[in-house]
Amino acid sequence: MSLSIALNVNGVPRQVELDDPRVTLLDLLRERLHLTGTKKGCDRGQCGACTVLLDGRRINACLALAASCDGAAVQTIESLADGPALHPVQAAFIAHDAFQCGYCTPGQIMSAIGLIQEAQAGDDPERVREAMSGNICRCGAYAGITAAVLEAQA
Ligand code: FES
Repeated sequence: MSLSIALNVNGVPRQVELDDPRVTLLDLLRERLHLTGTKKGCDRGQCGACTVLLDGRRINACLALAASCDGAAVQTIESLADGPALHPVQAAFIAHDAFQCGYCTPGQIMSAIGLIQEAQAGDDPERVREAMSGNICRCGAYAGITAAVLEAQA
């Protein structure tokens, strides 16, 4: 039995048929909508590589059933840059060398944008690190990531 869901993805209304109601939002984005900027790391909610904004809030897309997102607005990394013009958080990540291999970077950036919108961490580096702790960087670029988030929210 297929299921039809409506999503707004990066400002574009999408109607998607789900053949399998168990498909995750992550797999829907990557495999059906070809938005591969959102990465799959652990696929079990532990690394944050799949972070997107769902109705403006940070979520792990690997933990969300696409069917449960019916009617929601999803924002992915692909929505940020306007041609060559980067989003301020993207620019801050470059300015602070906040990545090495880059695999976790889309998730880090989407998490940072969600954090800034939440306005919870302020200018305290410890609180920023805590608020970003759901996003793992195997290269250990945490100092640059924290500096980038602090600059971007200033
Ligand atoms: Fe979703 Fe790791 S892929 S948290």
